[in-house]
Amino acid sequence: MSAAASTDGEALLQVRDLRTYFPIKRGLLSRTVGYIKAVDGVSFEIKPGRTLGLVGESGCGKTTVGRSILRLVPPTSGSVTYRGNDFLAYRGEALRRIRRHMQIIFQDPVGSLNPRMRVGNIIGEPIQAHGIATGLKKNELVTSLLQRVGLDASDAHKYPHEFSGGQRQRIGIARALALSPDFIVCDEPVSALDVSIQSQILNLLADLRAERNIAYLFIAHNLAVVEHFSDEVAVMYLGRIVEKAPARQLYSNPKHPYTMALLSAAPEPDPRQKSARIVPGGEVPSPANPPSGCPFHPRCHITRQAAREVDANVPPDKSTIPLPVLDLRQTTEIESGGERFRVLSKCATQDPPLEPKGAPDHLSACWVIR
Ligand SMILES: Nc1ncnc2c1ncn2[C@@H]1O[C@H](COP(=O)(O)OP(=O)(O)O)[C@@H](O)[C@H]1O
Ligand SMILES: [Mg+2]
Repeated sequence: MSAAASTDGEALLQVRDLRTYFPIKRGLLSRTVGYIKAVDGVSFEIKPGRTLGLVGESGCGKTTVGRSILRLVPPTSGSVTYRGNDFLAYRGEALRRIRRHMQIIFQDPVGSLNPRMRVGNIIGEPIQAHGIATGLKKNELVTSLLQRVGLDASDAHKYPHEFSGGQRQRIGIARALALSPDFIVCDEPVSALDVSIQSQILNLLADLRAERNIAYLFIAHNLAVVEHFSDEVAVMYLGRIVEKAPARQLYSNPKHPYTMALLSAAPEPDPRQKSARIVPGGEVPSPANPPSGCPFHPRCHITRQAAREVDANVPPDKSTIPLPVLDLRQTTEIESGGERFRVLSKCATQDPPLEPKGAPDHLSACWVIR
């Protein structure tokens, strides 16, 4: 399903160091006592017609990334460039006009459709509002959109509750297509659907992408869904991207302990992963109060194993995790999930940069994995 690889061409969308913080308010005066750093320095780009998959556990900031890019929530800082223009600088009518090119498909096909509106109006309203067509012409457009997503022309007269979950998601897709966008945020578009329906919707999205050269930011918590659908995959943890690579590379040769844990915890273990099932230990920390050093260190199996080897004095050439540099051969005891254990001191104190590992397009933020 994945689009053919190509490295040429300008980015359609460029996101640089995006941060979206939500204030935490307390007391009668609603004083701001801190911030939930839902998105904390995210960068990526997407070329026309290409798909970036964005995965991670619930609460890691995926939806906030999608909504911030579209300015459905105001980003705190950073830049979003669309076709070379600063999207965050658009105001008023210019903003309204450029918005038609960037659409969103929501996870919940029930909550995202107005229950009091007929389907024809749900899809037709943006067409009219943007002055694309009115009257009969608009109705023709609605009919062709309904048919394109696998529904019937007569469905225009029905209300959302008269449809199944999968059909409602088709309505959501038709509405997103109505303004001929070239970028769509797909926020877990199949998570709420029966497994038997999921692949139908994914196939539809893949066909539309090929037909209309639409770029997707495809959000999912299921790694299996993203693998075959994405050109590139980014893994998020606590508001940041901790690994990003071409899809095949990320799945066959993960370079971040969190990605390894997610892959091995997947319902259908990847046969290429020979290691035992690794489920990240402990709770997901709060994005209001992220851990020091590498934000993943309290749950990381790699730093724990490396610390055991260092403390047992295993020489670097014999260790299962060959530690690259001397400054990693020190350990610290930490407490996490009601348990005390040792980790590499550097992981507990210094935040690793997102940098290339082995290949220029394979980025990971980890002190230990090379
Ligand atoms: N409007 C909001 N106000 C306050 N906190 C929010 C808001 N939206 C999201 N959050 C918080 O930001 C973090 C990331 O949420 P979200 O982007 O929905 O994650 P995901 O989509 O990966 O599950 C969570 O801790 C969530 O509670
Ligand atoms: Mg979400």
